[in-house]
Amino acid sequence: MKKIGIIGSGAVGKALGKGFLKYGYDTTIASRSEEKRAALITEIGGSIKTAGFSETAKSAEIIILAVKGSIARNVIEQCGIENFSGKTVIDTTNPIADSPPQNGVLKYFTSLENSLMEDLQSMNTKAHFVKAFSSVGSSLMVDPNFDGLKPGMFICGNNEDAKKEVQTILLKFGWEVEDMGMAEAARAIEPLAMLWCIPGMREGKWSHAFKLLKK
Ligand SMILES: NC(=O)c1ccc[n+]([C@@H]2O[C@H](COP(=O)([O-])OP(=O)(O)OC[C@H]3O[C@@H](n4cnc5c(N)ncnc54)[C@H](OP(=O)(O)O)[C@@H]3O)[C@@H](O)[C@H]2O)c1
Repeated sequence: MKKIGIIGSGAVGKALGKGFLKYGYDTTIASRSEEKRAALITEIGGSIKTAGFSETAKSAEIIILAVKGSIARNVIEQCGIENFSGKTVIDTTNPIADSPPQNGVLKYFTSLENSLMEDLQSMNTKAHFVKAFSSVGSSLMVDPNFDGLKPGMFICGNNEDAKKEVQTILLKFGWEVEDMGMAEAARAIEPLAMLWCIPGMREGKWSHAFKLLKK
């Protein structure tokens, strides 16, 4: 199994860190702060490793990007763009604007003609970005329990082998995979997080996931 490097120590980084360890992956999670890194070892437990951004990106064979959308470009630069070359990058980020939500609807800094993932892919042409985990809460990312019903994870990206790698991970983590095609599909997938958050923002309900019904 490939070595996992998680760039981001927030709720998503921690949830996926626990998940990758559970499924036997050699996993490193990154933070800029030594203090935070020590806390992550206690919080995540198991055999989790920690390191700085560039060290984590360099040693990883699959990179998970789990930072605030508005700083994602900057974080990739801090990691070293060359450390992404040839690797699958699981992009969990959403382009959430700093302005407050309106009646429970998040605001985005992208438009329907461009997505954050396309922007990140264009600055890293040798990396293989795959959008995943962006439209569900961190507590449901690994082994989501809906009484035996598997929810669907929407993914997209330009590299078929990278998407196959992500599909293998998602199947282990308890998801059905809905491949929506090339990177442009992120224009539709990223706004699903707006929809996912509305019941939470309006009614405090955060325990749901999407599923595509098919005949
Ligand atoms: N929370 C969810 O349930 C959820 C669900 C789906 C998708 N998402 C998306 O997933 C992404 C991660 O969300 P999150 O809530 O886990 O984490 P977050 O709080 O958005 O980000 C945490 C990480 O951002 C880094 N960071 C903050 N400011 C920075 C800066 N100026 N330069 C470099 N790094 C900086 C922190 O690094 P240090 O450790 O060094 O401080 C930390 O690792 C977001 O794009 C979010 O929209 C979240």
